[in-house]
Amino acid sequence: MSIGTKDIIVEKVKTSKIDKVDFDNLTFGSVFTDHMLVCSYKNGAWETPKVVPYQPITLDPSSKIFHYGQSIFEGMKAYKDENGEVFLFRPLENFKRLNISAERMCIPNLPQEYFMDGLTTLLNLDKKFIPTKEGSSLYIRPFMFASGNGFHASPADEYKFIIACAPSGAYFSGKVKVLIEEKYSRSANGGVGFAKTGGNYAGQFYPTQLAVKKGYNQVIWTDDTNHEFIEEAGAMNIFVRINNTLLTGPTSDRILDGITRKSILDIAKDQGIKTEIRKITVKEVVEAAKDGTLKEMFGAGTAAVISPISSFGYRDTDYELPELENSFGKRLKKIITDIQYNKSEDKYGWRFKVTE
Ligand code: PLP
Ligand code: COI
Repeated sequence: MSIGTKDIIVEKVKTSKIDKVDFDNLTFGSVFTDHMLVCSYKNGAWETPKVVPYQPITLDPSSKIFHYGQSIFEGMKAYKDENGEVFLFRPLENFKRLNISAERMCIPNLPQEYFMDGLTTLLNLDKKFIPTKEGSSLYIRPFMFASGNGFHASPADEYKFIIACAPSGAYFSGKVKVLIEEKYSRSANGGVGFAKTGGNYAGQFYPTQLAVKKGYNQVIWTDDTNHEFIEEAGAMNIFVRINNTLLTGPTSDRILDGITRKSILDIAKDQGIKTEIRKITVKEVVEAAKDGTLKEMFGAGTAAVISPISSFGYRDTDYELPELENSFGKRLKKIITDIQYNKSEDKYGWRFKVTE
């Protein structure tokens, strides 16, 4: 099945809401662009995608999304350079991961053309919403869910694929304090931790709320067996620097295979930074914090970019991290964001030009 951008049906808004967007005070994901992409799956096939004015969607109360949580999403960003050209970062990786999540959640795979052509049509139409202020971008949320009806606990026969976009500022507004979690688990062996499915996030809200009440921003999840190894945070993968080695845990069926994570690993290696992908024990991180060899910790993700962690809590003790002038985190963030915003050469071929 193949479609070209010209096949996408476009219905434009009558009046743009661009004037209502306060580009100087953007938060994360709370104001939306004029249009959205909608594509329906019916009778065993995806229909031609449509770009329509951003609007509410109507669903039957028995839609399976409400009862059985068949839903997946992706997180991407569009960046505008000084000349007004628009770029995405490794969009095919998001596309591939969307279909990996789809398969695990029994949602039909989406053809690549629908994703890529849908995205580029939508972005070309709404590009005036892409902020240019440093640290801002257009957050893009492609998602799919079961719109088919019925209380029977089985996969739905109808689905919707939607892309909505939100001009956004930074995900974290200040210092990031994390709590190493030992009671609750985000995911388990054989489970759905690697899939970007709504339930993985809903299940984190309660333990994260408890952590927020204690003054932390995010939980660092540990393995569900013995809570011995550092896995990932609520919305980002985790990197730990001990002495001059940058560590991150291996991905598994419990952990999201982050695109930022793998890009950082490639850049770090090229920068001569020693990297290790291996299981990281909570014990070694606590000991390194005590003896001063723990130099930095940061989270990595599309929304979070590279977010330095200022302290972590473990068993009622808080461990502060030093603020390094030349941290790996700052260095890597500059390199990755310079590629994203078209400020540097992209020897990796990660940047994808959207503007026609
Ligand atoms: N881990 C979780 C649970 C996430 O939600 C995200 C965000 O997408 C990440 C890691 C980072 O993934 P990526 O770098 O692909 O955005
Ligand atoms: C992203 O970084 O794009 C994510 O999906 C994380 C989300 C929880 C905001």
